Amino acid sequence: MLRLENICMAVNGNNGESKEILRGVNIEFKSGKLYAITGPNGGGKSSIAKVVMGIYRHSSGHIYFKNKEISEMSVTERAAEGISYAFQQPPRFKGLTVSDLLKTAQPGLDNMGLRKSLRDVGLCPEDYLDRDLGPGLSGGEMKRIEIAQVLVRNAAISIFDEPEAGVDLWTIQRLIGIIISRFKGNPDATAVIITHNENVLPICDEIIVVEEGLIRDRGTPAEIWPLIREDIECKKRLECRGEMGYEI
Ligand SMILES: Nc1ncnc2c1ncn2[C@@H]1O[C@H](COP(=O)(O)OP(=O)(O)OP(=O)(O)O)[C@@H](O)[C@H]1O
Ligand SMILES: [Mg+2]
Repeated sequence: MLRLENICMAVNGNNGESKEILRGVNIEFKSGKLYAITGPNGGGKSSIAKVVMGIYRHSSGHIYFKNKEISEMSVTERAAEGISYAFQQPPRFKGLTVSDLLKTAQPGLDNMGLRKSLRDVGLCPEDYLDRDLGPGLSGGEMKRIEIAQVLVRNAAISIFDEPEAGVDLWTIQRLIGIIISRFKGNPDATAVIITHNENVLPICDEIIVVEEGLIRDRGTPAEIWPLIREDIECKKRLECRGEMGYEI
C-alpha cells in the first residue's frame, strides 16, 4: 500500500554543510498490518514519517501510495489521499479550539463522535472541547488531542510518532489499548507506531529497526525482539537509575 524506494534526505547542518539523515531507506507497508518502527534517538524514525507525510522533502528516491507516486504531492494532498501523521511534538494552533481541530480532521463528526473521540484518549469533553490549542495546554494534553485527531480521520494509513512520549502511565496503557484494538487484525486499516515501548513492540505484526538513517533490521517480533530486547532493557535500567533523561 505504501512503499518507500531508496529514500535519501539531507538537511543543512550547523556549519552550513549538508548532512544526510536518510541514506537509502526501503520499506513496504502492507494493508491491514500494524507496524512498529524503533531504534536509537536520532536514527531517522521521525524523518521517515515526515518524508511520507510530505513535511520533509527527500532528495532522491520514490514514494508510492496505492501504486501512485506521491513525491510531488503537498501535505494536504497526501492527507486527502489517506495518509495521517500524529507528531512526536504536536504543533500548537493559537486561536483554534480542540473542537475546531477535530472537526477539521473529520468534518462528518457529530457531537457524540466529538465527545467520544476525547473520552477515548482519556480527556473529559466538557473540559476540553472549547480549549484553545495555544500554550495553555500541557504537553501530555496536546499529545492526546493529536492522537484523537488522527484516530478520527480514519485514514488508510495512520502513523503515530511515539504516542507514549510525555503521557502518564495510566493513559499510555489506555492509548495503546485503543490503537491496538483499532488496528490489530483490521484488514481495512494500516498503522505505523514509532515506539520504544516494550508492551507495544511484541504485539505488532512487524518491527522495523532504524539506525543512522538506514533500516538496520526488520522482521516479526519473534525475529527482532531478541535482537533489541537487551538494548531496551539496558536503557530502562539506566533510566531507573536516573542516568538518562527520556522515557522508554
Ligand atoms: N529539520 C532538521 N534540521 C536539522 N537536522 C535535523 C532535522 N530533522 C532531523 N534532523 C536530524 O536528523 C537526525 C534524525 O532525526 P529524527 O528526528 O528523524 O530521529 P528519531 O529517530 O526520530 O529520534 P528520536 O528517537 O529522538 O525521536 C537527527 O540527528 C536530527 O538531529
Ligand atoms: Mg523521533
